[in-house]
Amino acid sequence: MLDTPVTALTGAGVSAESGVPTFRGEEGLWRRHRADELATPTAFRRDPLLVWEWYDWRRRLIDQCRPNPAHHTLASMEQALNVFTLITQNVDGLHQAAGSNNVLELHGNIWRLRCTACNHVCEDHRVPLPDLPPPCPQCGQLLRPDVVWFGESLPGEILDTAWAAAERCRTILVIGTSATVQPAASLPLVALRGGATLVEFNPAETPLSRHAHRVIRAPAAQALPDWWAVYRPS
Ligand code: OAD
Repeated sequence: MLDTPVTALTGAGVSAESGVPTFRGEEGLWRRHRADELATPTAFRRDPLLVWEWYDWRRRLIDQCRPNPAHHTLASMEQALNVFTLITQNVDGLHQAAGSNNVLELHGNIWRLRCTACNHVCEDHRVPLPDLPPPCPQCGQLLRPDVVWFGESLPGEILDTAWAAAERCRTILVIGTSATVQPAASLPLVALRGGATLVEFNPAETPLSRHAHRVIRAPAAQALPDWWAVYRPS
């Protein structure tokens, strides 16, 4: 296993036991809005304050959360394996907080802000943000979260690197994602086409389950460390 390429794809479920609400679970609702109604360019154009209030609420919530054993296990895999790629759809930064150094963030990062006018990008960890919507420190125009919204393209280079890692891996671990949002949901299928073994960690069934070689129906914070205890190279 030491030199065998392993790729992991994570979704909101990997952070669920840290206290971050998933998107499609019941707790994904905020003031009766669904996440996919708020995380869109149209919603932001219509009401930037509402969308920012939601992100500010998520930032405050995530700020209170700490990485769980699943995040820590993925950080150990990076250390222990020669060819390991971690791809995440999460924007919470908990993989990095657990010690993962190379994280392909397909959907951006909630702690980064980007100017809608001059494209200036800055990190800002203040919770709550002092002004909503926040102004750009360079030009004073409206900042947005540097995350990918529905209908927007993913960062090209990151997606290309993730795609290549899916193509070349021999094992793909799919952890805590409903596997419903493209193009992330295609990555495990790309890996399968290349002959990889797919292991899914999810308490619930997903569209990927029927393709998986092994399905572990348990919370990731328990199941992933257990799996790694068996498969880690000695
Ligand atoms: P979802 O909320 O769609 O799915 C979370 C998945 O995690 C579900 O399949 C749950 O069954 C599973 N789950 C819940 N608790 C778990 C646990 N303790 N351990 C393991 N799995 C658990 O979240 P994502 O699949 O990440 O995109 O959603 C994908 C994208 O859609 C997000 O990145 C976001 C969202 O809207 C954008 O914002 C662009």
